[in-house]
Amino acid sequence: MDALRAEIAGHNRAYHEDDAPQIPDVEYDELVRELRALEEQHPELSTEDSPTHAVGGAPSATFAPVEHAVPMMSLDNSFDHDELRAWSSRIARGLEVSEEAGIGYVCELKIDGIALSMRYENGVLVQGATRGNGRVGEDITANIKTIEVIPHLIPNAPAVLEVRGEVYLPVASFNALNEAQEAAGLARYANPRNTAAGSLRQKDPAITASRNLAFWAYQLGQVEGGPDLATHSAALDWLGELGFPVNPERRLVATISDVLGFTEHWQEHRHDLAYEIDGAVVKVDSLTAQRRLGSTARAPRWAMAFKLPPEERTTKLLAIEVSIGRTGKATPFAVLEPVFVGGSTVQMATLHNDAQVKVKDVRPGDTVIVRKAGDVIPEVVGPVLAERLSGLPEWTFPTDCPTCGEPLVAPEDEAHTFCVNPFCPARQQMQIEYFASRSAMDIEGMGERVVSRFIEEGLISDIGDIFSIDWERVRSLDRFGETTVDNLRAGVEASRRRPLSSLLVGLGIRHFGPSGAEALAAHFGHLDAIASADVEAIASIDGVGPVIAQSVADYFSTEQAQTLVEKFRAGGVNLEGPERSEVPQVLAGKAIVVTGSLEGFSRDSAADAIKSRGGKNPGSVSKKTFAVVVGSEPGASKVSKAEEAGVPMIDEASFVQILETGELPPEVDSA
Ligand code: IVH
Repeated sequence: MDALRAEIAGHNRAYHEDDAPQIPDVEYDELVRELRALEEQHPELSTEDSPTHAVGGAPSATFAPVEHAVPMMSLDNSFDHDELRAWSSRIARGLEVSEEAGIGYVCELKIDGIALSMRYENGVLVQGATRGNGRVGEDITANIKTIEVIPHLIPNAPAVLEVRGEVYLPVASFNALNEAQEAAGLARYANPRNTAAGSLRQKDPAITASRNLAFWAYQLGQVEGGPDLATHSAALDWLGELGFPVNPERRLVATISDVLGFTEHWQEHRHDLAYEIDGAVVKVDSLTAQRRLGSTARAPRWAMAFKLPPEERTTKLLAIEVSIGRTGKATPFAVLEPVFVGGSTVQMATLHNDAQVKVKDVRPGDTVIVRKAGDVIPEVVGPVLAERLSGLPEWTFPTDCPTCGEPLVAPEDEAHTFCVNPFCPARQQMQIEYFASRSAMDIEGMGERVVSRFIEEGLISDIGDIFSIDWERVRSLDRFGETTVDNLRAGVEASRRRPLSSLLVGLGIRHFGPSGAEALAAHFGHLDAIASADVEAIASIDGVGPVIAQSVADYFSTEQAQTLVEKFRAGGVNLEGPERSEVPQVLAGKAIVVTGSLEGFSRDSAADAIKSRGGKNPGSVSKKTFAVVVGSEPGASKVSKAEEAGVPMIDEASFVQILETGELPPEVDSA
């Protein structure tokens, strides 16, 4: 019991004072439960200063201490429905009422953030404090004043008002922060709660201000001169009227069965919220009943937390391996002793890149914290340093590709390392899988296993080979029965008729996605036209930026790409875009000459724009020319010829209009 007490006290310090918990909450809860069970069995061995009686940690030296007028208590936890029902029965007994009559509970979300107490005197925010040890917290007034949703002034407020609630970091803000961290080569933050805690305890309030923290109010502290409130639900409504954010998901219910329904709902929907929760909090609604029930040293008897299954657990890091993606990107990932977390068993987790492994300092053999929140891919948060065996060596990033053995390359301006061998089997495998996937050519049945077998058997080595597969040979392979082969073949056959945009997406060109693919397919109408277009022509298309244009042009300039195009052609793959008639043929039979340079068009893209609308773009002006578009530094001969022949000369803006309507703008026409 002494050992447990010391261990728990250590974790309390790490969590409350250093904002650096070393074990996930569930495991902390397990330690506390174990100690409490032992203390119940052996009350004679229980101590005054046991952490089972205390709330949280001690205030730190960074911020001034604040004594809470009303102590900030902790909550008792329950982990299943039986425990919630048992609590409700205790309440009924304590109040001497029948449970069936309905006790009246307020169900709230248990926000996974940091408890905050705010004090308003005559409507003015005078103090904000953390919970600290429950009696004395830390003065963080300057920091909480930077939180947008927290009012500084309350009209019609009582003389003294203490509002308690939870400061939290919305998931979207957390993710944005982590993207910025990673882009700067810095360590990712572990989770929104720790990040919120760290943000709140900054010495410089400007940093707190930059973090986009938010707040939900859920409890009153000291109140002098307020309205007579009979229930907790009325107190929450009042807080809302005063201008505090009060969580809209709260429910006032009659019986414990309704409470169970609430917890079930949120077990299912926790990730529909824009912020993280770690459970529900159930509170007896009647304030008279709350007073009758009272509190223990640590927590009120009238409230109970219901904890949702954890999204962080510890497990052993067996090894760190590196996988090669379709662009050649080498990503380190953790091989873990299987652990059930966030609703599924996790045995692999990304480590992002070399820099992240270094800043996290995780080493094979470590006990690590694994996090899996909802659909988000599992992540290794960090090592449990207290459990590291001495002499455990650091992990180093491999110098060569683990699949093809070629040296890995780390471009200067990138956070990632790449295998640049285009023939690397790992890259080819990923590329082919991607090509066949639903987001590209959607080849039914062509999944990871089939692709790797086909590569192994030498049936395919790139995406172009898919259209010349020797099906007789496939039939001779074991585990490829008649129906399997027929289905696969039908899948490949169907993919030959996919739109050009799907084929373009399937090429897996860097930075280039479906919307760019649609734009290119619609504009150029044929793969050959795209493959031979220059950067300017590609960049001139609406919705295609310079980076994408460069990437596409670079791609098609390789010999490999040209070979692929020929394989597609030979394999009978559709190379044509949506029919050109989809673009209205407003310029049918009209010749438009362009001279000088335009801002929004290159020479080629202007020509394409005219031709795709049925028009002609001759190199010289004649009487039959419909219009001459004059850009900056036009050719003198074209201008004088146009003057001579009475051909209208128009600027770029009018050109854009003509492309729309096919007609000259009225002012040009009459001139
Ligand atoms: S009520 C006397 N309501 O959970 C009752 N707490 O594990 C005090 N928490 O310290 C707390 N959401 O930081 C309450 N709706 C909610 C809550 C909530 C999150 C936190 C709070 C508390 C901790 C206890």
